[in-house]
Amino acid sequence: MNRKILIEKAQQARKRAYAKYSNFQVGAALETDGGKIYQGCNIENASYSLTICAERTALFTAIAAGERHFKHLVVATENGVSPCGACRQVIWELCGDIPITIVDKEGNTIETSSSELLPKAFGKQDLDS
Ligand code: THU
Repeated sequence: MNRKILIEKAQQARKRAYAKYSNFQVGAALETDGGKIYQGCNIENASYSLTICAERTALFTAIAAGERHFKHLVVATENGVSPCGACRQVIWELCGDIPITIVDKEGNTIETSSSELLPKAFGKQDLDS
């Protein structure tokens, strides 16, 4: 899949954010090894802690559809900020070390990865040892 298309899909998903409380819209696009794209947006709630981030919406949607192998995640915000800590942990769990592109509303990008965002991650291997 074309990187440009994945970026556009994340920006498109961002427009669907349900962000009535923060007014901070986030979109995500996750590409599977097979080339499918799953989109996510943040979904807020009047009971604030029930909010889910765009990254986890995309990941959980893909997992629930039966997907298990991912190759690239794009996260779109207004200002090109990095995923929150909770999402970093979930990305590590479900994707391992994959490239992550962060894009702002002008289309400026930053290339990073799961391991760069979450060094020395806690994972399954720590339970097994
Ligand atoms: N948010 C995300 O969707 N992803 C992140 O990685 C950071 C935060 C959302 C959650 C909430 O709806 C809004 O941004 C403000 O925190």
